[in-house]
Amino acid sequence: MVNFKSEIAKAISKITNIDEKELETYIEIPPNSDLGDYAFPCFKLAKTLKKAPPVIAQEIKEQICLGKDILEKIEIVGGYLNIYINKEELTKNVFWEIEKKKELYGSSNIGNGKNVVIDYSAPNIAKPFHIGHLRSTVIGGSLYKIYNFLGYNSVGINYLGDWGLQFGKVMAGYDMWKDEYDFTKDEIQAILKIYIRFNQEEKEKPELTEKAREYFKRLEDGNEKEIKTWKWIRNLSLANYQKTYDLLNSKFDSYNGESYYNDKMDAVVEELREKNLLKPSEGAEVVDLSEYDMPPCIIITSAGTTIYATRDLASLKDRINKYNFEKAIYVVGNEQRLHFKQVFKVLELMGYPEYAAKCEHVPFGLVVDKDGEKIGSRKGNSVFLEDILKEAMQKVEKIIEEKNPNLEDKKEVARKVGVGAIIFNDLSNSRIKDEIFDWDMLLNFQGETGPYIQYIYVRTKSLLEKAGYTPEIEKVDFSKLKETEAIQTIKLLYRFNEIVENAALKNEPSIVARYLIDVAQSFSSFYNEHKIITEDKAVQDARLALTYCVGTVLKTGVTLLGMEMPNKM
Ligand code: ARG
Repeated sequence: MVNFKSEIAKAISKITNIDEKELETYIEIPPNSDLGDYAFPCFKLAKTLKKAPPVIAQEIKEQICLGKDILEKIEIVGGYLNIYINKEELTKNVFWEIEKKKELYGSSNIGNGKNVVIDYSAPNIAKPFHIGHLRSTVIGGSLYKIYNFLGYNSVGINYLGDWGLQFGKVMAGYDMWKDEYDFTKDEIQAILKIYIRFNQEEKEKPELTEKAREYFKRLEDGNEKEIKTWKWIRNLSLANYQKTYDLLNSKFDSYNGESYYNDKMDAVVEELREKNLLKPSEGAEVVDLSEYDMPPCIIITSAGTTIYATRDLASLKDRINKYNFEKAIYVVGNEQRLHFKQVFKVLELMGYPEYAAKCEHVPFGLVVDKDGEKIGSRKGNSVFLEDILKEAMQKVEKIIEEKNPNLEDKKEVARKVGVGAIIFNDLSNSRIKDEIFDWDMLLNFQGETGPYIQYIYVRTKSLLEKAGYTPEIEKVDFSKLKETEAIQTIKLLYRFNEIVENAALKNEPSIVARYLIDVAQSFSSFYNEHKIITEDKAVQDARLALTYCVGTVLKTGVTLLGMEMPNKM
């Protein structure tokens, strides 16, 4: 496919003798296509060329050498060159490329097979898997797909919180109260109730905390009974999470969590000691980070045990050895910002600056209701992911029952639309913002939602079906697509790869999500203004080809977000 931007840069480079890569970064896309498809700000070159911007603009306009297949016209406005490209050629390029690559349209190989390690989901076993983990699971899951699409090799790691004092609490509580709970039906719920009760009673009876410590110590020491109970709880929880992961279509390449590093910590502590990084501090051992304006990173607590940061360092070293990663991404809430800054800094000080530079914390905001209240924050009242997903599916099924009672496979469609609505809601705004969770909003088929995109896709499907369309791109007369809405849509389709690359660069799936809304809306305004099925066969064929291309990109796009497309709804 022709890269219009770089062709323009190349042509300007010939005139100005300025590096074309540099010039390319100056080229803008005007917000309004009346100002051209691309705009070049000549004032950026004024200093280097020692000429006034209007003079530069005039010179470039007169001397530029771009074939008719690329350039339609150039206008000078202010210090800008407004460049209009040949729309027929653009359309031809985009349509042929989509026809050729199909669901791979937009992909590339900039990753060259290099490993990107993505740490996401990471619920804490024996504690409730609540809505906060939804964000990590969904954002990480989308990044996983986006990186693969760009030729990287994504490695998904579910770094389970499967070690720690919470197990001591559950085990102590279990031994005290197991007869009061029903373990025959829903063991996970029973365990959770014990955990929540323990936390409540602990407030009045501090001796319970001591007891939990003793249980956990026995676990750490490898005591058989505790190991057995731990395994039982871990397996139960994993089987339970799997139900949610199946619904969300989440895949992991490794479930090595905190427990996996229990016996691998000594080596890290030793290395830190050898490199003279450990300093005693109030009975604990820490890495002093005052020089970097950070509180010390605790490695060994005053009780002599290792801690979250120690385990993260051990797992990082493991990931370096196993994957020699190009990037290591941690999709974890914003409240852990300092933790990751400290861990990456310690890794650097340990003598691995090149890897520390490849680590990135990808934070995200809270989930709040429409009044801005944090969801799932009240003790013992956590909202479960699985329940939310099920509720979404039920709600959608009800809508379908009202609107389209004869639809086949209602349940399957409700799953794709319901789960898709939840995923899209999570990804549709920049991740650092708090996510507003509001049923009416996220299920609104007319809003900027997952169901809206799916609905437009289904429209493309039914249009193509109605017309008995089979792609015959060689027969399409590209000059038949002249309408503003058509051109606007085609220009969006043209940019798909750039959008996906940008989403990876910023670790921001919302860039893809917003783009899909733009494509859907743009196509929707096209077919609201212009009939697709029409008397003029040549016009119809061109419009159908556009419909097909839009459908293809929408489908690939939602797949990158981790959603599935229904064929009907
Ligand atoms: N289990 C942790 C939590 O829920 C998140 C773990 C994130 N990953 C990591 N390598 N620290 O808070």
